[in-house]
This record gives sequence, structure tokens and C-alpha cells, in this order.
Amino acid sequence: MCGIVGYIGNRQAAPLLLEGLSRLEYRGYDSAGICVANGELHVEKAKGRLQNLAEKTQNGALLPGTLGIGHTRWATHGQPNDVNSHPHLSENGKVAIVHNGIIENYLELREYLEAKGIRFTSETDSEVVAQLLEVCMQETGTVMDALYMVLHRISGAYALGIISADEPDVMYAARKDAPLLIGFGAGENFIASDVTALVRHTRDVVYLEDGEVAAVSRGGVQIYNAMGQPIEKEHHHIDWEISAAEKGGYEHFMLKEIMEEPEALRRAISPRIREGRVVFDGMQMDLSGYARIMIIACGSSYHVGMVGKYNIEKLCRIPVEVILASEFRYCDPIIDEKTLAVVISQSGETLDTMAALREAKRRGAKILSIVNVVGSSIARESDEVIYTYAGPEIAVATTKAYSTQMAVLDLLAIHLAGLRGTIDEAQYRSFVDAAARIPEQVSEILNDRDRIQYYASLYFNHDSVFFIGRNLDYALGLEGSLKLKEISYIHSEAYASGELKHGTISLIEPGTLVVALGTYTPLFEKAMSNVIEVKARGANVLALTTASNCAEMEKRVDAILSIPDTELPLLPLLGVVPLQLFAYYVALQRGCDIDKPRNLAKSVTVE
Ligand code: G6P
Repeated sequence: MCGIVGYIGNRQAAPLLLEGLSRLEYRGYDSAGICVANGELHVEKAKGRLQNLAEKTQNGALLPGTLGIGHTRWATHGQPNDVNSHPHLSENGKVAIVHNGIIENYLELREYLEAKGIRFTSETDSEVVAQLLEVCMQETGTVMDALYMVLHRISGAYALGIISADEPDVMYAARKDAPLLIGFGAGENFIASDVTALVRHTRDVVYLEDGEVAAVSRGGVQIYNAMGQPIEKEHHHIDWEISAAEKGGYEHFMLKEIMEEPEALRRAISPRIREGRVVFDGMQMDLSGYARIMIIACGSSYHVGMVGKYNIEKLCRIPVEVILASEFRYCDPIIDEKTLAVVISQSGETLDTMAALREAKRRGAKILSIVNVVGSSIARESDEVIYTYAGPEIAVATTKAYSTQMAVLDLLAIHLAGLRGTIDEAQYRSFVDAAARIPEQVSEILNDRDRIQYYASLYFNHDSVFFIGRNLDYALGLEGSLKLKEISYIHSEAYASGELKHGTISLIEPGTLVVALGTYTPLFEKAMSNVIEVKARGANVLALTTASNCAEMEKRVDAILSIPDTELPLLPLLGVVPLQLFAYYVALQRGCDIDKPRNLAKSVTVE
């Protein structure tokens, strides 16, 4: 979604802003713009890819100056075009703002400002912030005082970057419900909505909290709380390597990130297994007393939750409800002190998930989150966090982050089952040993990717695909299907195989591609029956099963992929890898923009 970068220092701001914005491209956007202060404020914007803005400004050379803000916009209010993209100037051209989030009362504010004679140029909600600042500055004289007035009048979510022609030595930042951080350099400082924009220049960052405001100058940064009092904040050190956010010879980030899965899984799993036991170092939360678990998430993280439901219920005998964060927010959920809310989010910033977390907390639930981005909002607001250590994920379609979320949730299920005594010691040991072998087994699957690419070349032309499976294979199918549709634009659906006869089978006709998932050994026979049913109606079947059932399945299907055998709860950790690769190679064959699929964003920070 939208991205913010701001710079103040002694170097030329525009090239740095363009470079920072290019690091945020992965989040998804449809236009971009920068504003540089040089006596006056100079703005350039361009619809479409950042390259257009770079060309328009001769890589920033046409906008000289050492203070500036930049933005990549993912349109919500108003078309993606040069007028609606940010930065927005106030009518007198003295104030420029970039904004992530949504100003909910913008219509009312716009009417108020228009009644005062202010003329708006865009259709956006964001422009009211620039215009209101100008009006308030007439009263206060300073940006800082005007900013506090504005923050009291706007409602909604915002990360704001602000510069003014009247104050050439300071850049302002403010945050509520949208991520924003300050990067500290030597004689220069930055703001950004995402640490990837800054990591080439500094690893010393401070995350702003809701209600906080920062005045960022060349020599220092002062942060204020919602009451305007100066505060000190903890600094964080970013310790991942820059190369982690670069393609490193791969054609796409997505393939690179799939290939990184063994390493990412090792980072997620190995520190949590010691002497044959699952350990979560530093965990304060007592997990033993809960009678019920609610898993709350969006997108692929929700699919991880589906796997978690099957596993936790089976191993721990606790009822688990998995609920989409966007539904949870408004469904008046029934929660008591015996409910543990497990919140799953790669980015830790998804707006619906964040809102659901707060709602669960408000109703008395304790929050355990599974998050990839260290220091993100969800991590900070949870009672307990388990980090997935997947490293930065740039491709919009998640792969290694999904896998590491699942690994962590599997370990949690094993740990909880151990605590509750719902599995015996032999089973416990066997699950832990199997978990430790997962990274190696994922490497084996990756070594066989040529076969998956070959099948992709056979099937890439289909218009519609059905994924079918039962139990853990159903949960796996949801993710396999989502991966395929989001990057290849093929219509794809996942069904619980038992539901086929209740409707979906009417869509199966000669040549329809069905991806039949039959990795869950206890229901392998049932999976075979469903394969036979769809074959009888002329479907082309690509099956996925385990090594030990491969020969049996192969007799019945058109194409087969297999994964190494492992303990049942861990099967989806292996099963998802061929499905990710299949989606990738199909999209490649179709010439799609794999890392930045149309209309999608990496981190969804609007409702
Ligand atoms: C977006 C991403 C998905 C992700 C979902 C939830 O839709 O494209 O890959 O699963 O958001 O994101 P989160 O960061 O909360 O896991």
C-alpha cells in the first residue's frame, strides 16, 4: 500500500527519496510523487511506475534541495493520477504533506475549508490535511502548533510527513494507526513508513506510537507525545542484511524467497528446539489455563490459522475458532478471560488485524501474536509475540513468511499439547524430531523444481482451476489456490473435497484442471475416491501426495507431485512448497508481473 519517505540532511534529497520509494515499490502502488524544499516547495508527480517519476525529474536532478518528502500511492479516494497522488500542497503552496491511511471526516472538513474560500485541487481525503494546516498556521504561526490543532480535528488513520517553505530546517511526522518510523543518520535524518526504505542509510531507528509527533532536523530529532510534551524513545537496531531485500541473481523476489525457505524455516525452528523440547525463550505468558483459542488473521496468515485449527484441536483438544480479522471486528465476538487470541500477521501492520487485536483486548482476551516484522504495531500491542524470523519479504505474494508462520504455530501446538498432556512423550519426541528435519526436506522439494516447472508449462493455459482436499489438505488448498490466482490471474477456488458433490462438481467438465491434494495419510483413500469422481467427468488431475502414497496415486492421475513423508501435523509445511512453485511457474509462463500483481498490496493498511 502507500509508502512514505522523507529526508533532511546535506545531501540532495530528491535522488534519495526516489531510491527510498523504489524500496517501497513492493508494497503495491499506482502513482508516486516527491516534494523538495528549496526556498519554495517544488512538487513532481507521475502516474504508474516510479520510473516515470524518475524520468520526469531526471532522477531527481530537476528538484534541487536537501529537505524533501516522497510518496507512493495506492488509490483509495480518487483515481490514480497526477493530481490525486501525493505530496499535496496547501493552497498558498507553503505546506506539503504525504499521508498513508484514511481521513474519515474529510468531507466535513473539506466543506468547512471550502466555506472559508479554500480551493481544493484533488479528490483525495489527504488534501484536507495540507489545507487545514495552512488555515491553522495563520492562527498559530508555526507548523508544530498548527499540526496539533489539525491532529485534534481529523479522525481516521494516518502516517504523515510534512514540510513547509517557511521552516526549511525541519520535517514533521505524526502517526495514528499507520506505521511510521524515524531513521537516525550523521547530520541527516529520515522518516519512512517501512524500514526497507532506510536500511541503506541507517540501521538506527525509532518507531513512532499512536499520537506521537516528531520534529526532525539535520542535527537531531525531538519526539512529542499526544499532549505535546517531549519524550525519549527506545532506539532499535535493524540487523538484517541489505542483500536480504535484493534479488541476488533471481529473476523475481518470489522465487528468491521460495528458495530461501529452508534457511528461513531453520531460523524459525532451530532456536525453539532444545534437547528434544520446544522452548519459546523469554515467553512470560502462561499458556496452560485457556479453554478456547481464537486465531485472527487476514489472507495467507488466515490460511496458516486454518492449519493451526486442525492441528491444535487434534493435538491439544482445545476448541479453536479461526476468524478473518475483517469479520471479527464487527461480529460482536464472544470472548472471556479463558480465551487466548492468537493474532497472525507477517507485516504486523494489517489494519483489520490491528483493529481486531484491539477489539479482542478490549473484550478481555490475552493476545499472543505471530509476527515477522520486529517492532511492528501488532508486535508492540500484543501481550506476547513470537517472531517468525523469515527476514524481509518483498514479493507481494507471501511464501517464506507463510511457511515460517506455520512452523511457529506447529511448534506452539506441540508445546501446548506437551503442557496439557494430550499427547504422550513418544509422540511429542517424534513431532519435535520431525520439525527439526523440515528445513532439509524443504530443500529436497526445491531440488525437484524442474518437474514443477514442466507441469506448469502443461497447464498454464487453463482459465479455471479447482483445488480439493480434506482436513489439512483443505487448509493447504486454500493457500495453493490463493497463490495461483493472485499472481497468475487464473480463476481458482479451493473446496473441501466432501463438498464437491454439493455443487462444485457441476463445474467439472472435460479438460478442467483439478489440483487434488492427498498428503493427509489418514484420509488418503477418500482423496483417491474424489480423484476418481472428477476423472470420471473428464478433469485433468494434478495430484500432490506423500512419497509413500505416490505410486498408488500415480495410477489414477495425469500428473503427480510428491513431498517427503513426515509427521501428520507438519505435512502442510512441506505441501505448500510445490504449490508455491507451481503458482510461480504458471505466472512466469503467462508473463505476469509476479512480484507486483495488479491491484494487490503487500501490507494492507486501509480497511
Ligand atoms: C496482503 C498480502 C498477503 C497477506 C495479507 C495479510 O493481502 O498480500 O500476502 O497474507 O495481506 O498480511 P499480514 O501482513 O497481516 O500477514
